[in-house]
Amino acid sequence: MASQEDVFKKLIAHCKEYGFVFPSSEIYDGLGAVYDYGQMGVELKNNIKKYWWDSMVLLHDNIVGIDAAIFMHPTTWKASGHVDAFNDPLIDNKDSKKRYRADVLIEDLLAKQDEKVEKECEKAAKKFGDSFDKDMFIKTNQRVIDLIAKKEEIHTRFVKALNDSDLAELKKIIEDYEVVCPISGSKNWTDVRQFNLMFSTEMGSTAEGASKIYLRPETAQGIFVNYLNVQKTGRMRIPFGIAQIGKAFRNEIVARQFIFRMREFEQMEMQFFVKPGTELEWFAKWKEIRLKWHKALGLGDHKYRYHDHDKLAHYANAATDIEFEMPFGFKEVEGIHSRTDFDLSSHEKYSGKNIKYFDPELNQSYTPYVIETSIGVDRMFLSVMAASYNEEQLEGGDSRVVLSIPPILAPVKVCVMPLVKKDGLPEKAREIINELKYDFKCAYDEKDSIGKRYRRQDAVGTPFCVTVDHDSLVDHCVTIRYRDTMLQERISISDLGRIIGEKVSMKELFKKIV
Ligand code: GAP
Repeated sequence: MASQEDVFKKLIAHCKEYGFVFPSSEIYDGLGAVYDYGQMGVELKNNIKKYWWDSMVLLHDNIVGIDAAIFMHPTTWKASGHVDAFNDPLIDNKDSKKRYRADVLIEDLLAKQDEKVEKECEKAAKKFGDSFDKDMFIKTNQRVIDLIAKKEEIHTRFVKALNDSDLAELKKIIEDYEVVCPISGSKNWTDVRQFNLMFSTEMGSTAEGASKIYLRPETAQGIFVNYLNVQKTGRMRIPFGIAQIGKAFRNEIVARQFIFRMREFEQMEMQFFVKPGTELEWFAKWKEIRLKWHKALGLGDHKYRYHDHDKLAHYANAATDIEFEMPFGFKEVEGIHSRTDFDLSSHEKYSGKNIKYFDPELNQSYTPYVIETSIGVDRMFLSVMAASYNEEQLEGGDSRVVLSIPPILAPVKVCVMPLVKKDGLPEKAREIINELKYDFKCAYDEKDSIGKRYRRQDAVGTPFCVTVDHDSLVDHCVTIRYRDTMLQERISISDLGRIIGEKVSMKELFKKIV
């Protein structure tokens, strides 16, 4: 069986080969951790964004959207805390000259302890067969007890070091547990240093006195500085939310794992403004709503889990990640944060403007508390691709690579194929596309055998293929072939729109989450 690493490599190659994701400026050998989305990728990305956007602004009449600029007044980032505190602890290996995030090295070390425990359990399960009791084994096996105790010890030290911003202790953990550089295999580490992740540039010419500005590292601040504009012009009453989709930029130290950690990426963020004191209730609600949104896609409920933060960001009084099982383990796809009134109060202080909300019910003004849901479009994209990529062995020794992308997100919904390139079949196929194209992204393919054409569509995740044959000209029926089951049936052309429509209906999906 192929290792997860091999599967991931194949997925990356597949993304490139079929027009989903290309390395940025590839003809110049690419640019670290920057990627372009191709003709298929952009459709999938747009569908993800639509699913998110509509789930916010259509399903909630108290949530509206905005589209703020990427550039913001530089004081924004002072007020938000990003100038002073948006840092990652970095460490270099002196032999390989490779740079790492010290916290990520320690997180990997913790994950290794879990893997060791799992391996012990697997060995024992094989040995004891049906009589194996995993819970009992974990409680009583000395080696497992020691591994769990070691993990606890590392974890406690790690959390304390993070909370105290104790860089020397982070290095000491790396040394004490003999973490080695994956490249050089050595333990020859530099000290841990802080590194600010914001990209800066200059606005205006030097003669005018250019000012240093930043490329936004999160979209959220565009919402905070506009919250009162929206509240007043939209006559919004608390609780209400503002949603936004847009690019964010971070000079990530360790940019690995394809589009998981990028330097330019896209976020879908929603800030929900609530009455102080009610924030933890809303935090719990949004945790639930957001997990339901993920699960409704049907990628597999077991692939998600919550991960509560060990170290709270400078603005939060509660925070959870929704993690997804990527080919390289469970990783954060979305963050849900209770951001208190930190951002609004700070903008009030730095701008000198009163941005309090007047509550007509209480007849008093206050600074709202904020619950944030923040999901990366690119990570969501990766989770969909990773869960959908399948290599299948078929009867008769044949095989196929199929992307079982949820139909609602599939880049192309239907490919219409004339059986042969003559006898009026291409014209009939075009006629069908001309009917369907207003509702669905369609493709047309007349090259090669029908079998090869099916494979090409399987590889990009097209849920329906429609074949037009000579009988179609007489009986007005076509053969529809379903991607996942590969079953085929003869149906009337007039039923096509309905059959496809039912499977790719956003409304049906939304019914699962409201
Ligand atoms: N406004 C809060 C915020 O930005 P975050 O946890 O730093 O919180 C939110 O980021 C989400 O943005 C993450 O869950 C992830 O999906 C995405 N994200 C963050 N950094 C990323 C990166 N370098 N590349 C791709 N996605 C990223």
